[in-house]
Amino acid sequence: MPTPSQPEFWNKRYLSDDTPWDLGAIPTDLRAFLKKKGKGAKVLIPGCGTGYEIKAFAEAGYEVTAIDFAPFAVERARRLVGPALADRVILGDFFQHDLPGDSFDVIYERSFVCSLPPDRRPAYRDRMAQLLKYRGLLIGYYYYNKPSLLEGPPYGFAWGTADELFSRYFLLVKDEPVNDSLPLFAGRERWQHRRRTSFQD
Ligand SMILES: C[S@@+](CC[C@H](N)C(=O)[O-])C[C@H]1O[C@@H](n2cnc3c(N)ncnc32)[C@H](O)[C@@H]1O
Repeated sequence: MPTPSQPEFWNKRYLSDDTPWDLGAIPTDLRAFLKKKGKGAKVLIPGCGTGYEIKAFAEAGYEVTAIDFAPFAVERARRLVGPALADRVILGDFFQHDLPGDSFDVIYERSFVCSLPPDRRPAYRDRMAQLLKYRGLLIGYYYYNKPSLLEGPPYGFAWGTADELFSRYFLLVKDEPVNDSLPLFAGRERWQHRRRTSFQD
């Protein structure tokens, strides 16, 4: 049986349309965020899935790179964005792919860290810190679910543990409840922004 750390696990879910995390739209808070134009800023979307947000970032003036390691997710995303943006969607592993360090102004994620087994969270934080420029923003939707830390996906953060994890490199600058969550995440999802500090190892 493939595990959530393997692309086969996710590919199978896309192939069988078993995707309860798929919003099928641009989330409301992100839509509001994108009212401010990107002016060529570089954004990375890891674990992009079907990637509804890719086109929205591009239309708001961002230079977008999206990555997912499930071939069928990438196929769906490329089809959705069309030929003009298809080559911005990389088939690859977020942790392994040769992405340029210190180069992104924004990293946007939805339902990505909660898809990773909790023991991968320090690697997730370190990779985000490596890829973002100083003062860059890690923005996205974060799932909290105290009682079932080890059950998932989705794997929720217990309150406080995300702050502890990210504080090595990031400052939390926004934390709001989410009003358009899917049933899978309802009442347990937060729209959060974290700014890359100058902290290094
Ligand atoms: C729960 S889905 C979320 C997809 C999308 N962000 C959304 O909101 O619909 C998690 C996605 O992360 C991808 N993923 C998981 N681990 C990955 C990794 N190490 N590198 C790249 N993609 C990964 C999976 O293939 C899957 O598409």
